Amino acid sequence: MTYKQINTLSNEQLLARIAKDLTAHGHCIIPAGLPEKLGNSLAEQLSCINDVDFHRAGVGRNSDLKRNTSIRKDEIFWINNETNAGREWLRWAEEIQLFLNRELYLGLFSFESHFSHYAVGDYYKRHLDAFKGSSNRVLSLVTYLNDSWKKEDGGELVLYKNDRDENGIKVLPEFGTLVIFLSEEFPHEVLPALRDRYAIAGWFHINA
Ligand code: OGA
Ligand code: MN
Repeated sequence: MTYKQINTLSNEQLLARIAKDLTAHGHCIIPAGLPEKLGNSLAEQLSCINDVDFHRAGVGRNSDLKRNTSIRKDEIFWINNETNAGREWLRWAEEIQLFLNRELYLGLFSFESHFSHYAVGDYYKRHLDAFKGSSNRVLSLVTYLNDSWKKEDGGELVLYKNDRDENGIKVLPEFGTLVIFLSEEFPHEVLPALRDRYAIAGWFHINA
């Protein structure tokens, strides 16, 4: 898997675009937003992770954590800074965090993220990443590590504007596409994937 970033945005342009879109819409979708070198480091790390090290993801928090496979079927692997790719990724997320705190006063305090693998048929039903007032997750960040994803491959992210939105915006999980949204505001789902689908999902927290 290699990633050739198209329409290269400079880092400054990328950060400015994220802040502008979040201010205007509460979300942003940026094709090839992930820097090329970082994308390739992450893809390389991903290729070294054994399938058995991916674990069934839970739904809910802490003691409430349920392995509810009727809601989500993907498997996850948490990212830390024990690898070069992990360190590069977390440093990049921190840059976004610092910039958004400076420009939008979001007060973001920490970041956690994992790789996710959706095997054929896996999905994640419509959900919110955070419930109002009950979580310190405020901003969700998702990117993808899949070569030439086609509409026929399914597995689209559907981002809904609010609880009543039934149409949503469909996003193909193409390598490097970056999706950032306010965690409490945007219900979203992952449609069943028809080929292996790799993503990274992360959340910025405030210090509650
Ligand atoms: C999640 C999630 C979206 C995606 O992991 O919470 O919504 O497109 N992921 O993988
Ligand atoms: Mn989600």
